[in-house]
Amino acid sequence: MQSNQQVIVSVPATTANLGPGFDCLGMALDLYNQIYMSFAPSTTIEVEGQGANEIKRDEENIVWQAARRVFTELGQPMPGIAIKLVNQIPTSRGLGSSAAAIVGGLVAANNLAGNKLSQDTLLALATEMEGHPDNVAPALLGGIVISVVSEGKVHYLRIDPPEELSTVVAIPDFELSTQAAREVLPRQVSLQDAIFNLSRSALMVGALCQKRLDLLTVAAQDVLHQPHRAPLVPGLVQVIENANRAGALSVMLSGAGPTVIAFTHNFQKEVAGVMEKTFLEAGVICQTKNLKPIVDGAVIL
Ligand code: HSE
Repeated sequence: MQSNQQVIVSVPATTANLGPGFDCLGMALDLYNQIYMSFAPSTTIEVEGQGANEIKRDEENIVWQAARRVFTELGQPMPGIAIKLVNQIPTSRGLGSSAAAIVGGLVAANNLAGNKLSQDTLLALATEMEGHPDNVAPALLGGIVISVVSEGKVHYLRIDPPEELSTVVAIPDFELSTQAAREVLPRQVSLQDAIFNLSRSALMVGALCQKRLDLLTVAAQDVLHQPHRAPLVPGLVQVIENANRAGALSVMLSGAGPTVIAFTHNFQKEVAGVMEKTFLEAGVICQTKNLKPIVDGAVIL
């Protein structure tokens, strides 16, 4: 029998790639979407906050689709559900809004259905829905997550972020779809470029594990995606250069962009100012936020 209990799930924003770790590294940040879900005679979807004007209220809604994926996995018919979304994560900006919707929908529906699916199964379903694990893994598990998909299974390692690590995100006032930002990437890369990213990506993980923030400048370098995406984000190269000069530890595209994220040693106000000013010089208005890496992923409130 279905109860009339309501579940509330809080899911964090995430930054993917961390520079060179394309499709395999991600970190949770303290900006949240809340998903309210309960059984209902028929499906209703309400949205407040970020994306309220664009997010679909029908069967194309990602949270609803994630809930349906749970019931399909359990071999049960999709019940009527009432969904309310209270969103802080801006949509299509490179801060994991779709990952948060997928993870939130999966966790909420799994809870309503009696928590029968394990965390590993939820991660596998989330990765299948998103197409890559780098945002969904930290959205579900929190912290910094290295994830690898092998033979349909997601293998992952989660590490706590260094306490002194903080970030500044500069969020441009335009959307960039992940699909568009992936279409500009070359299908093949040179051995030299592969070595460049492999070495930095390994260094990034080691530096974060050993809290060697001094190594993050080199560790964040990338040649696989950022140079190809630069034409889609006016001012990207200059914002990275100027924020580095203003004292950031490292500066990179957040996920597929257009948000640029600076890793800083605690909060550095100058970095935010420089990012805003440099974007403006390139004709881009942006909002800056100081976001802290966090330990928790999706939690049921
Ligand atoms: N790794 C992905 C990309 C993250 O850069 O395209 C965006 O979802």
